[in-house]
Amino acid sequence: NTSEQFLFSTQPPGTTRRTPQTIIIGVRKGGTRALLEMLDIHPNIAVAATEVHFFDWDENYIKGIEWYRSLMPYSFENQITIEKTPGYFTSLQAPERIHSMNSSIKLLLILRDPTERVISDYTQVYYNRLENRKPVQPFEGIVIKNGALNTKYKAIQRSLYDVHMERWLKYFNLNQIHIVDGNTLIKKPLTELQKVERFLNLPPRIVSSNFYFNQTKGFYCIRSDGRERCLHESKGRPHPVVNETVLEQLYNHFREHNHRFYQMVNQSFEWH
Ligand code: A3P
Repeated sequence: NTSEQFLFSTQPPGTTRRTPQTIIIGVRKGGTRALLEMLDIHPNIAVAATEVHFFDWDENYIKGIEWYRSLMPYSFENQITIEKTPGYFTSLQAPERIHSMNSSIKLLLILRDPTERVISDYTQVYYNRLENRKPVQPFEGIVIKNGALNTKYKAIQRSLYDVHMERWLKYFNLNQIHIVDGNTLIKKPLTELQKVERFLNLPPRIVSSNFYFNQTKGFYCIRSDGRERCLHESKGRPHPVVNETVLEQLYNHFREHNHRFYQMVNQSFEWH
């Protein structure tokens, strides 16, 4: 819609583009899009439309902070700018780079059961490959190599939350990082969003009527500013049914890591 594009590309009076005061750092497939879209309901939040990949991709980072700022939305003084790039959480450089931009930034991290996350990650790649007419493999064929768990599989490594969190805690205090429970966000979005409002010191503005359950989609959708919208069809795709033995192997692989993570963040989750 041209007039809408025009509206959005014009600078409303009293606004400027600001570097984010909050970043959703990941994790990939944790529910990062849902979290960002749901936070966008809040009048004091302005969100960046696309994933910027500034702190994790060298070719973008060298473009400098002004390039980064130019990709942020126009915001009023009483608004918090938020961007989300799920790749930051597992990136080696992102913690140090974000810290050097703003050492008192507030970070949001949305996590879900690590095994579920692996399957979701696989499902996304599976559909991308199908769309690009590339050959696909069943889940078990990738996750199991020579009879053992293929721990080199990227999707498995991304689910080692303790390993990644350790790097963030070298640069940030635990109280600067709020962890959103992705499993809860799916079933009770309001509960998780109210915690985020408190973490960001925002007045409570997100209410239950902002959500309605869409039977066809099988997920909550958003009602805000007189509009109703669900997330893109690529969010919430059915997962493959995974062999029980393989599931057990994944649960076993993550168990120690999960416990280490719970200790690190003084918080526990109901992961397998
Ligand atoms: P699945 O597609 O595996 O179900 P991300 O945006 O980080 O890629 O995360 C995608 C995940 O967000 C989806 O994983 C889905 O489970 C989850 N999600 C949470 N709330 C959702 C909602 N209201 N609508 C659609 N997906 C949602």
